Amino acid sequence: MKILVTGGAGFIGSHTVVELLNAGFEPVIIDNFSNSNRSALAGLRQILNHDVPFYEADCNDAEALNAIFEKENFRGVIHFAAHKAVGESVAKPLMYYRNNLDSTLLLLETMQRYGVPNLVFSSSCTVYGQPEHLPVTEETPRLPAQSPYGNTKAICEDIIRDTVKAGGPVKSIALRYFNPMGAHPSGLIGELPLGVPGNLVPFITQTAAGIREKLTVHGGDYDTVDGTCIRDYIHVVDLAKAHVQALRLLDSREETSYYDVFNVGTGNGQTVLELIQTFEKVNNIKLNYSIGPRRPGDVEKIYAQVDKVNNVMGWRAEKTLAEGLQDAWRWEQNLQLKNSIVSE
Ligand code: WQD
Repeated sequence: MKILVTGGAGFIGSHTVVELLNAGFEPVIIDNFSNSNRSALAGLRQILNHDVPFYEADCNDAEALNAIFEKENFRGVIHFAAHKAVGESVAKPLMYYRNNLDSTLLLLETMQRYGVPNLVFSSSCTVYGQPEHLPVTEETPRLPAQSPYGNTKAICEDIIRDTVKAGGPVKSIALRYFNPMGAHPSGLIGELPLGVPGNLVPFITQTAAGIREKLTVHGGDYDTVDGTCIRDYIHVVDLAKAHVQALRLLDSREETSYYDVFNVGTGNGQTVLELIQTFEKVNNIKLNYSIGPRRPGDVEKIYAQVDKVNNVMGWRAEKTLAEGLQDAWRWEQNLQLKNSIVSE
C-alpha cells in the first residue's frame, strides 16, 4: 500500500517512514527541505538499506503534486509538511497561514481528484491552549490558539472535518501530538533544529554537547510540584507507530467518509526539572542550567488522557522518558561526530 508522506525528511516524518516500511507499507516522501535536511535521507538509507522513493517538491506546488499523484497510485497520505515554530509564527503569521493552510487545501483537492481515500493529519495538543481540566481528552474544548502556528492546526482540522462531512471521499484522522522527543535508537536520524532550538530536548542535548553555554528553564514559579511547566513527552518512534496504526484504522473503515481525532501522548506529565534530572541520570552528565523568567505563551501544564487512542486506535506508548533521553543524546553525539569529520 503506497503512502505519500509529506515532510517525510523531517523529524517525525522520517521516523514514520521507517515504521511504515517495518509494517509493510510503501512510503513515498515529498519534501522541500524548508525545515529538514537531505542528510535525513542518507540516515534512512543506512537504517533501511535502500533508498526511499523521494520527490523534492513543495506541497503548495499544484503542478508538482498533480504530477506525483498521476505517477504514483497512493492509498493514503500522511501530511506532516508545515511550518512549525511557535515563536516564528507570531512574527510571520501570513507565512504560516499561507503555507500551512494552502498545502492542506491543495492536498485534499488532489486526493479527491485522484480518489486517494485515507489522510492522516499531523495536528498538535497546542489546539487545547491551557486546558481547565487535566488530563486532556479529545472532548476537551479547543481554546483560541496561543499562536498562529497553533491556529493553523485547528483550522486545518476543521477544513478536513468539513470536507469529510461533505462526503469525502476522503477518510481522515487528526493526531494531536503532545511533546515529541528522542530519536531512532540507531542514532542515524533524529531532531535537526535549524538554528537555536526552540524545543526543550534539543536545547538540552546541545547544551550537553557544549554547543550551547547553558540551558535556561523558562519559569520556576508555576503551580507545579517543582515550579516548572508540565508536558507529556512522547518518544518519536512511538509517535511514528501511531501513524501506522491510524492508517490501518482508516483502511479498515468501510464508510467513504470518516473523521476522528486522537490525542497521542503517554498519559504522563513531567516537569522540565524532572526531564533535566532524568537526562543527567541516564546519560551520566551534569547539565549547566538555571531558572529564568517565564516564556510568553507557554501553558503551565498539559498532558493527555490516552484511553481513546489506546482502546479505539489500538496504540499505546511503549518507550520510557529515559529511553527517549538516551536516544536523543546518542543522536546528538553522532551529529557532532559527523560535523567534526566534515569540518576537518
Ligand atoms: C517544553 C517545555 C518550555 C526550551 C511546542 C508546540 C507544540 C510542538 C512542540 C510542534 C516548556 C520549556 C523549552 C528551553 C525551557 N511544536 N523550555 N527551556 O512549547 O510545549 O510545545 O513544541 O509540533 O505544538 O506548542 O515545547 O519543547 O518548546 O517546551 O524551559 O530552552 O520546556 O517553557 O515548558 P512546547 P517546548
